[in-house]
Amino acid sequence: MQLFHRPRRLRKTDWSRRLVQENQLSSNDFIYPVFLLEGSGREETVSSMPGVSRLSLDKLMLVAEDCIKLGIPVMALFPVIRAELKTPDGKEAFNPNGLIPQAIKELKKQFPNLGIMTDIALDPYTSHGQDGIIDADGYVLNDLTVDALIKQALTHAQAGADIVAPSDMMDGRIGAIRDSLEAHGFIHTQIMAYSAKYASAFYGPFRDAVGSAGNLGKSDKKNYQMDPANSDEAIREVALDIEEGADMVMVKPGMPYLDIVRRVKEELGYPTFAYQVSGEYAMIKAAAQNGWINEEAVMMESLLAFKRAGADGILTYFARDAARLLNAKK
Ligand code: PBG
Repeated sequence: MQLFHRPRRLRKTDWSRRLVQENQLSSNDFIYPVFLLEGSGREETVSSMPGVSRLSLDKLMLVAEDCIKLGIPVMALFPVIRAELKTPDGKEAFNPNGLIPQAIKELKKQFPNLGIMTDIALDPYTSHGQDGIIDADGYVLNDLTVDALIKQALTHAQAGADIVAPSDMMDGRIGAIRDSLEAHGFIHTQIMAYSAKYASAFYGPFRDAVGSAGNLGKSDKKNYQMDPANSDEAIREVALDIEEGADMVMVKPGMPYLDIVRRVKEELGYPTFAYQVSGEYAMIKAAAQNGWINEEAVMMESLLAFKRAGADGILTYFARDAARLLNAKK
């Protein structure tokens, strides 16, 4: 054959492949999620998420230090709340002396240069496991819930949170939280809006980790989280959150929703993040433990795929493992 175009030319050597590579991962791309327990000296493994533990604050400090060493910009905090503190209205969510505010204060004191992001939603705090306040039929009441979310976000901002991340999918909450932050002088507090959050079965292991699975029982979150069948709706949700004052937007889950990441980035051009959720992590871990896939290779490929889809960053349980690998390669 006498071919004019031979795309394989550029793929022949390592130097050439590196030269033409379009996307790259770095530790700057990661947000590392952690599960926080009360007390001290405590560490509990999460059986459905090998390699992930729930930690008390003293142990979390070591993880925070590791994130800084690895160049990971942000840690995201998720609380494990004791059953006695869970109520129908989830009011522990805005206790200024609660688990999360305490952790924020201590982390910011010891590691002022590590970004701290907190989840704004009531599910770890409600006795029924829903992200908001419910009526007699179990329907999550939008406006009442938003009132609670405003208080929760303000409590976190007052404790020193850098980013508040509403993950509840109530209507109008971004605007309401933004108004309240501005009114109270928290003009630098960033909002990462979980704008396109789907009612996904991939959240299973997370609900084990924070202990909300049992509370939720057989109910689901389909009357507020999005239908996995929809794509245009995601664009409308993201556009609304941007209008209401979000600084960054999130698509969640990650790998099965890369088409949404691409559309959001292309159509709105905003800082766009993806959440590689617990079920995605668990699938990779389980297959790797069985020797069916190469864990490191699949982990890195999955993370690079987010960048290729247009994500500016990735919230992932692999953040520290991936950063360690990337740093070793340098
Ligand atoms: C709670 C919340 C969930 C996740 C993050 N924040 C669970 C849910 O919506 O039920 C899931 C994260 C994961 O699966 O890794 N609002």
